[in-house]
Amino acid sequence: MKSLKLISVIVLAGLLLAACAPAAAPATGGEASGEVEIFSWWTAGGEADGLAAMQVVFEQQYPNLTFVNAAVAGGAGTNARAVLATRLSAGDPPSSWQGHAGQELIGTYVAAGQLQPLNNLYDANGWIAVMPETLIPLISQDGNIYSVPVNIHRANVMWFNPAVLEANGVAVPTTWDEFFAAADTLQAAGVTPLAMGEQWTSMHLFETVLLGTLGADAYAGLWDGSTDWAGADVTTAIGNFQTVLGFTNSDSSTLSWDQAAQLVVDGDAAFTIMGDWADGYFVSLDLEAGTDYGWAPTPGTDGIFQFLSDSFVLPVDAKNPAGAEAWLTVAGSKAGQEAFNPVKGSICARTDCDAALFGPYLQSAMEDWSTDTVAGSLTHGVVANDAWKAEIDTALGLFLADGDVAAFQSALATACSSSGACQ
Ligand code: GAL
Repeated sequence: MKSLKLISVIVLAGLLLAACAPAAAPATGGEASGEVEIFSWWTAGGEADGLAAMQVVFEQQYPNLTFVNAAVAGGAGTNARAVLATRLSAGDPPSSWQGHAGQELIGTYVAAGQLQPLNNLYDANGWIAVMPETLIPLISQDGNIYSVPVNIHRANVMWFNPAVLEANGVAVPTTWDEFFAAADTLQAAGVTPLAMGEQWTSMHLFETVLLGTLGADAYAGLWDGSTDWAGADVTTAIGNFQTVLGFTNSDSSTLSWDQAAQLVVDGDAAFTIMGDWADGYFVSLDLEAGTDYGWAPTPGTDGIFQFLSDSFVLPVDAKNPAGAEAWLTVAGSKAGQEAFNPVKGSICARTDCDAALFGPYLQSAMEDWSTDTVAGSLTHGVVANDAWKAEIDTALGLFLADGDVAAFQSALATACSSSGACQ
């Protein structure tokens, strides 16, 4: 976790000062009763199982509360977040919702005044001491902390079917050029080289290609204006992205992320690039890590951990706020995170979970999280707020249709300017 350290120190100092201010007694939901409506998009294999496992802990600890699962299907929250926006504008927030640490949280929900600070809950539960210092700045503003992170996910993972690679004499590629050579071989043998799904999965692919082509420093600079979106490296990255797209399944726009992953399971495709919720999906199918499926960093990203974190919030005007705080208390607890993450396909946000509870892939992720350079995900809310991401998404949609590299790059540069990051 080499990046982001200075900012962590600055924000932590602010938080310590804020902690000295008199605070109301922490509410933990112990006396609460009634329904607690928890909003997420965890409906696929693995992610739904993780939520259900945390629900069990919640129901054991708070028997007077009724958990209401308000999940809306659609990977990366594409549908859920539209439903949430409608509910928020109608003044009908759920008790708590799933939001990503970073700009999705701070630059979108906090900026809109939709969330309550959670400093009291952090004090009451001693969370500052057990949450990674990388993460706290990404969920804080002006000394206030606005969410409870339940996990750390890795975005830059390339999953593969080991039997398909072996049958075709293909080694796991570590650079994009190696990937293209492998993909030529696979395609000639009638295997889809890379399984992809609907549009957000292509944004996910694109962010890993940007990272793998530019490297961690220049990639980070895309989000603070210090790397030129109109520069030659970005042109190269878009060219790589265009080449990769040529190796994907033709029905991608009709598939969810897990249906794309299933192509790899079935041996119809060799690779898929997806966050490590795919591990949760594979585990939910009883597949054996390392044998039935393998993994590697996406090409060009060895030693870089492109991360995101799911977190839960307390809305202004939350339904049953004491019940919501009970849910947040479980989401931030060791018991809650140890139940959730091994099935979800993520590692704990907390630093004190028992590694023995986790399977081989997640143990490798824990190791990498502790040693790699950290980069943030675009698709999953870390580096850009909703407005900027929406502009990138529009440009991406056009590029997927027309393949015009220059137009795409120019639209990306414009999006950075309108976001305010590039002036
Ligand atoms: C991400 C989310 C993950 C996983 C994935 C697919 O945005 O952070 O937890 O659910 O979408 O739905």
